[in-house]
Amino acid sequence: MPVCSLNELDTPALVVDLDLLEGNIRKMADFFAEREAKLRPHVKTHKCPEIALMQLRAGAKGITCAKLGEAEAMAARGVDDILVANQIVGRKKIERLLELLGKCNLAIAVDDPSNAQTISDMALSAGKSVDVLIEVDVGMGRCGAKPGKEALQLAKKIAQMKGINLRGLMGYEGHAVYIENYGERRSECLKALNALLGTKSLLEEDGFEVGVVSGGGTGTYDITGSYPGVTEVQAGSYATMDARYKKVVQEFDCALRVLTTVISCPAPGRAVVDAGMKSITTEFGLPVVKGVEGATVSRLSEEHGILKLEEGAKLCLEDKIELIPSHGCTTVNLHEKIFAVRGGVVESVWDVAARGKSA
Ligand SMILES: Cc1ncc(COP(=O)(O)O)c(C=O)c1O
Repeated sequence: MPVCSLNELDTPALVVDLDLLEGNIRKMADFFAEREAKLRPHVKTHKCPEIALMQLRAGAKGITCAKLGEAEAMAARGVDDILVANQIVGRKKIERLLELLGKCNLAIAVDDPSNAQTISDMALSAGKSVDVLIEVDVGMGRCGAKPGKEALQLAKKIAQMKGINLRGLMGYEGHAVYIENYGERRSECLKALNALLGTKSLLEEDGFEVGVVSGGGTGTYDITGSYPGVTEVQAGSYATMDARYKKVVQEFDCALRVLTTVISCPAPGRAVVDAGMKSITTEFGLPVVKGVEGATVSRLSEEHGILKLEEGAKLCLEDKIELIPSHGCTTVNLHEKIFAVRGGVVESVWDVAARGKSA
């Protein structure tokens, strides 16, 4: 696409401010530069190989994916060190996992002995072996073996399986990352880390080598990233950020926006833009209007965004308005392209290559 200005883009369009994106990536890279823990950013947030490669060039040791499909899309664009922080269950998926093994360094999470056994058996038959981390439920109440004895039991069973290699532990403190009060967030996060590192000690007392301890999100990167024994942090949202996370972590900037056009000004105090729920998600709240004093989003329907205008606020037909999503990860998943903009000029157009790769 030839270089054009932001205002020439057809809308709705997903846009990232390159100065802010690069600033966020640099800030996080600087934090991890001299630490024991390294950054393994979660790419589910942007689903875009170009951004993943920027994070790797800035010093990240690899990436984290939520799904095998995301990992396949990233590996196809040259990302070579991937943790799928999720369970790979069922023969079809495990076949894909074994296929992907030849294309990048790969590890996955396990929390169940029968799933681990199936992976091990299938890997052995294929003449391969799979690196795994035991996922520990550190308080989020999602996947994961219980910390302590249950995780140790699983480790002992895995030790008998010839087709998988136990590399370490993973525990994501997702219940803590959005707590706005820093003291409360820190204390919840430390409880989770005590459980995770306590489990590590238990395994080591039993003779296991626990080379990897992986966890952490954008809300807790500094706490988890400074905790002795943690080897990698999976923060992801920090790169592009969103309006909800901005209330929790102020040091990163909202680089992601949906550019919209005013398509109707049907009544005083109301303007309508061409982005609705099919372009911007609302599960974490309504998007925030950028740079128009007195304008707020009052609701979204499928393809319409209804803006409320205070007295004095004026919008005209064809005006271009940027909306900051409340949840970047799910908003990105609605778009095929990201337009990378600097100083009002579109510098690059990137594929959201892992868009929809939920399988
Ligand atoms: C397993 C896992 N690790 C890390 C993250 C970090 O994400 P964020 O940076 O958005 O807090 C997530 C987010 O959902 C996750 O599920």
